[in-house]
Amino acid sequence: MSRLRWLTGGESHGPGLTVILEGLPAGLLLDRDALDARLARRQHGFGRGGRQKIEKDRVIVRGGLRGGRTLGSPLVLEIENRDFANWAGVMDPWELDTAEAAARIVTRPRPGHADFSGAMATAQVEDLRNILERASARETAARVAAGAVAAQLLERYGFRFRSALLAIGAETVLEGPPSWEDLTSVDPSSPLVTPWPEDEERLVDYIRQIGKQQETLGGIVGVVVRGVPPGLGSYVHWDRKLDGRLAQAMLSIPSVKACAIGAGLEICRQVGSEAHDAIFPSESGLRRSSNRAGGLEGGVTNGEDLVLRAFFKPIATLRRGLPSVDLVTGEEGATVWERSDVTAVGSAPVIVESMAALVLGDALLESFGGSSIEALDHAVEAHLERVSPWWSKRI
Ligand SMILES: Cc1cc2nc3c(=O)[nH]c(=O)nc-3n(C[C@H](O)[C@H](O)[C@H](O)COP(=O)(O)O)c2cc1C
Repeated sequence: MSRLRWLTGGESHGPGLTVILEGLPAGLLLDRDALDARLARRQHGFGRGGRQKIEKDRVIVRGGLRGGRTLGSPLVLEIENRDFANWAGVMDPWELDTAEAAARIVTRPRPGHADFSGAMATAQVEDLRNILERASARETAARVAAGAVAAQLLERYGFRFRSALLAIGAETVLEGPPSWEDLTSVDPSSPLVTPWPEDEERLVDYIRQIGKQQETLGGIVGVVVRGVPPGLGSYVHWDRKLDGRLAQAMLSIPSVKACAIGAGLEICRQVGSEAHDAIFPSESGLRRSSNRAGGLEGGVTNGEDLVLRAFFKPIATLRRGLPSVDLVTGEEGATVWERSDVTAVGSAPVIVESMAALVLGDALLESFGGSSIEALDHAVEAHLERVSPWWSKRI
């Protein structure tokens, strides 16, 4: 069973989002500004729609924290949806304004969104809003809040995160898996979070052009985590292997259609001697000649940088519409555009980082447990001592 469990609730235009995070040790000191800074990063991406101008995401704590320290009870975080004020007649939990709600009914599903598949799953076709409000990626704000807490837990033990946008649509910024050094110049609060800030203007123009064509874009996001101790995860069972858990977390992000660990995509076409990372002795323990495995072998961390890539499809809501069918009348017609992003990939690095942090936080607690932060400190320290003949932390 997972040691760090979490569940989100809330709809895109409802009163707000909630996430309950359970399993944190008591006594972890949290930095409020760092939590909000991560939420702000999710709102920055260039190419996002008007919604981000309305929202000013901030974490409100409803339980599990006292004087900035975790109590060991469930941590309950909320994020207000400011836009609810404009949608109360359509989304109020108790009473709707019949005319306003009727004006917002959706019956023509957007290809690529959860509208049609969700309608068939729930046999509700009279208003697809019942599905799309929850399927909306607004929910990723709650994931980022939970991920920000997990990141603070991990940072206590020397984990560090870097993430960036590696490609937008047909524009590649960085080929292949990123290294820690590749991401040195990334400004996490910049509009497109690219490894090379000088590329940003060109990419912003590209997104503008695509927006004018009433089209949308996807892209590739990379994350590198340094300071991950060896031995997290398991080589024993399919559902405990860390590579599988990370891939599941990545694929659960709306729009993500593939995930690669290390050079996972590229090495499939190579021979074995080109694909693996030789081990050699050094003054600071054993070292690797390369990191094509991306820090994971056999479902267990090997102490090298953890390297992940997530591949995002283009946004499904096109201003120009896509062919569809009204599920109530059976009439053919183009989908209706409702305020939407041209691309969300500029916001995606912090989401990918957050999901990685939640999985790694779970793996850390699974390996070293402890209901207090002091107990966890001791267990981590003892483990690092045990592996010290082979591994030492990289600066
Ligand atoms: C940060 C972010 C913002 C998104 N914004 C939109 C949007 O404005 N319009 C849209 O149609 N899809 C948007 N998406 C994608 C949809 O949420 C996603 O395609 C949909 O839920 C269906 O899930 P799937 O693509 O994983 O199959 C966004 C995704 C992310 C990660």
